[in-house]
Amino acid sequence: MKIVNKIADVRLEVGNAKKAGKLVGFVPTMGFLHPGHISLVKIAGENSEFVVMSIFVNKLQFNDLNDFNGYPKDLERDIAIAENGGVDLLFLPDDKEMYRSNLTTVDVDLITENLCGAHRPGHFKGVFTVVSKLFNIVQPDIAVFGQKDIQQAVSIEKMVYDLNFPVKIIVAPTVRESDGLAMSSRNKHLSEKQRKEALSLSRSFAACEKLIDSGERDAEKISESIRAVILEGSPDSIDYISIVKYEDLSYAEKIDGKTVVAVAAFWGTTRLIDNMIIDKKDDGYICIY
Ligand code: PAF
Repeated sequence: MKIVNKIADVRLEVGNAKKAGKLVGFVPTMGFLHPGHISLVKIAGENSEFVVMSIFVNKLQFNDLNDFNGYPKDLERDIAIAENGGVDLLFLPDDKEMYRSNLTTVDVDLITENLCGAHRPGHFKGVFTVVSKLFNIVQPDIAVFGQKDIQQAVSIEKMVYDLNFPVKIIVAPTVRESDGLAMSSRNKHLSEKQRKEALSLSRSFAACEKLIDSGERDAEKISESIRAVILEGSPDSIDYISIVKYEDLSYAEKIDGKTVVAVAAFWGTTRLIDNMIIDKKDDGYICIY
C-alpha cells in the first residue's frame, strides 16, 4: 500500500493505475477505521482493480465544534487496518491541502431537509463539498458508501446524477456487531449500560420486519411500534423515527415501493443512527438492515 499526502501524488498514482487498464475504486473515510469500513474496501475491491481510500476529518461537515474536536483518531492503527484490508493507495491530506478559498460549496436540495439534515444544519453541504472535491481529485470509476449513513448515500447518488460525475455509487450493507449494534466510530463513547440499551435500535427493526411480514403497510403504525421498542432501551432522546421513500427521502404515508425506515437517538451525548431498507421482492417485501 502506498501512502500519499498530496493531491498531485494521488493523480499520478491513479493515472498510472488507469494507464495499466485498471478500474479505480474509492472509499472516502474520516478514519478511526472499523470492520464496517473494511467491508466497503472489500466491495470496492470486488468492483475494481485499484482501491483508493482517503482519511480526512472534514471540519466543514461538523455543525458542532465539540463533536469535531472529540472525533476519535488513531492514524497508526488506521494505516495497518487499511493495508491489511486491501487498500492500494491511502490518501492522507491535511487541511491546507484540502481547503482552498472555501467560497464554493455543493448542496443537494430537498433530499437533505428531513432526517439528519433537519437536525444537523450545514452538515450535508460539508459532506457534498468534500466528496465532490475528493471525486475530482481521485477520479474513481466506482465509489462505495455505507447504508448506515443512508441520507448521505442516497443524496450522493443524486449529486452524482445531477452533476454528471462519471462515477458509479455502490451502497454497501451496514456491518453490525454480533449482537446487532451497527458499527460506528461513535460507539466507543457509549458506557457498557448505554451500549446494551442501544441494542433497542436494531431490535426495533426486527419488530418492524415482523409487522411488514404480517402485511402492515401503514407508516404511522410501523413508527409507533418502532418507538415502543426503542423506548425500552431508555434513550435520553429520540431525534427522529422516519419512514421515507428511498428515491428522494420524502415522507411516506405507507410502504409502497422501496422505502427507508431511519432512526436517530441519543444515549448520553452520543447520537446513534441506524436504518432499514424495505424493498419489493416477488409479491412481498424484504427488509435489509
Ligand atoms: O461518511 C463519512 O465518513 C464522511 O461523511 C465522508 C463521506 C468521508 C465525507 O467526509
